[in-house]
Amino acid sequence: MDVVRDRCRDPPADDHRGGAHGTPARHQRRLKEPAHVCEHCGCRGVEPIAKLMDEHFEMLDLSGDIRHCLVSGDHRRAARLLDVLGDRLAPHARREERGIFAALREKDEFVEELRGLEEEHAAFDEILAGLDPGTTDFPGRVLALLDDLSLHIDRENLGIFPIAVVTLGASGWDLVAEAGEEGAVGVSQAHRG
Ligand SMILES: [Fe+2]
Ligand SMILES: [Fe+2]
Repeated sequence: MDVVRDRCRDPPADDHRGGAHGTPARHQRRLKEPAHVCEHCGCRGVEPIAKLMDEHFEMLDLSGDIRHCLVSGDHRRAARLLDVLGDRLAPHARREERGIFAALREKDEFVEELRGLEEEHAAFDEILAGLDPGTTDFPGRVLALLDDLSLHIDRENLGIFPIAVVTLGASGWDLVAEAGEEGAVGVSQAHRG
């Protein structure tokens, strides 16, 4: 059975899906740009970015499932889904760092923002590795992690990705393509290569 499909229960009407990039409505409202911005900026016309965005959708879906598990008190299943989330997040972040982030950094663009995003990648890894469903603070820690991940995804979908589309040249996209071709590696290797 695909553990991702092994939902704790059906999502409520106000779950964390939908919108321009599957981002929560409350986050979209906080953004300065309108939620539809990337419907028109061309991001999804660029294959490597479309792939990363699709992975964001999947991770937000998983996050929604994990939230439902917490609501129903099924912390063990939440932990299983968090393992899946970690397995998907690590190679995703590695491709971002070795591809789009590296290409933007080569152009000396948005270096501080990139550093912040990379620090969050490392923090997500560390937090995921330290979660224990048997502890009383497990639900709170998981919810904080999922909120931070959602904001992180917003910053990429509505920030770095559109910037890359209008900034990177041929050599930058070559770097992005190379990173995309590396494929999945072990979780422990992600973010550290
Ligand atoms: Fe990221
Ligand atoms: Fe990402």
